[in-house]
Amino acid sequence: MAGRREADLGSLLAQARVAYRGAFAGADPEIAVSAPGRVNLIGEHTDYNQGFVLPMVGFSQRLSLQALQLGTVMVGSPRRDGTISIITTAEEAEEPKRVQFPAPTETNTLRPGEPHWANYVKGVIQHYRAGPLPGFNAVIASNVPLGGGLSSSASLEVATYTFLQQLCPDDGDLVAKALACQKAEHTFAGMPCGIMDQFISVMGKEGNALLIDCRSLETFLLPLTDPSLVVLITNSNVRHALTGSEYPTRRRQCEEAAKALGKASLREACMADLEAARALLSEVVYRRARHVIGEIERTSRAAQALQAKDYRTFGRLMVESHNSLRDDYEVSCPELDGLVAAALEVRGVYGSRMTGGGFGGCTVTLLEAGAAEEALQHIKEKYNGTATFYFTTPSDGAKAQPL
Ligand code: GLA
Repeated sequence: MAGRREADLGSLLAQARVAYRGAFAGADPEIAVSAPGRVNLIGEHTDYNQGFVLPMVGFSQRLSLQALQLGTVMVGSPRRDGTISIITTAEEAEEPKRVQFPAPTETNTLRPGEPHWANYVKGVIQHYRAGPLPGFNAVIASNVPLGGGLSSSASLEVATYTFLQQLCPDDGDLVAKALACQKAEHTFAGMPCGIMDQFISVMGKEGNALLIDCRSLETFLLPLTDPSLVVLITNSNVRHALTGSEYPTRRRQCEEAAKALGKASLREACMADLEAARALLSEVVYRRARHVIGEIERTSRAAQALQAKDYRTFGRLMVESHNSLRDDYEVSCPELDGLVAAALEVRGVYGSRMTGGGFGGCTVTLLEAGAAEEALQHIKEKYNGTATFYFTTPSDGAKAQPL
């Protein structure tokens, strides 16, 4: 199993090594790491409300007969002059694709700037939990679609952190690692994300989805190896420009609702609390809170259903989640709604929903393995754009890779 997974990442690592030799005078890198992208099965926009989320990492794109594991790899070597030189091979990344700057010290802190892709890396370097860091050369290669709702940014942050751990080990605290990566995204990329993406990219476990309690940061493994079941991810390949401004607005609305309810967060509230305080809230803020409170409950019920292999209940909860994200939280879009509707027309599909922040990106569909081919064909036929499909193989989180 492990051999196959490494082979899946092999082509990405090979690509990074070739680029490294080309950029750094033919030298071979000494260190290699990988960090996966993620898909969230249920529990959307609940992480920054201290609620539950149920994500997993590890999925493969179907390229004729080949499976290609989606992730970010970073290869490199330390250097002695205190300079950090990093290259990205991502075609979608803006120019310049090479950045160079001195390793941070107590008096010389890094700051965000241009190009945008480097901010995720710089942020992690700045917030790394050990030091002083030496200079290094590195090349980054990723096949997680940028902005596709599969958390390319968290996989880049977590790959960077894992790389730094090989150069200058920290105390190995995985929760602190995920939190440092989240802080990097807040302060260097300007995105006030929750903890889900970084957490699952660090903590993913082969063969399992992970129920994360975003209040206590406890995690619970939920086996997902039933061969009769398939988790299909469909990328709409659309990204609406709203994402940047709408996410912080949703966060603020949730905080406003919690405050009006006299709660530390919406995790502490139930539907009865919300109804009792309805007159204190605007219609929009009320609906936002209704989504979050309902979604937290749905996620814990979905975790129980998955444990009991009750896929029908799980699927029904997924559909309820989608409808709530569409109507109350207003983060879906016609393309995602269309993909979900098409999936639900196929016999053998238990449930389907948008996954990730919304306004484009991907849907996740739970279905009987025997219905997979038909689902693919049907969704392709019904969808107006060009959809891309991925199948899941729940895998481990970030790790060092042999070279
Ligand atoms: C983005 C954020 C996550 C989470 C999801 C919505 O992916 O990075 O923290 O809030 O949106 O569930």
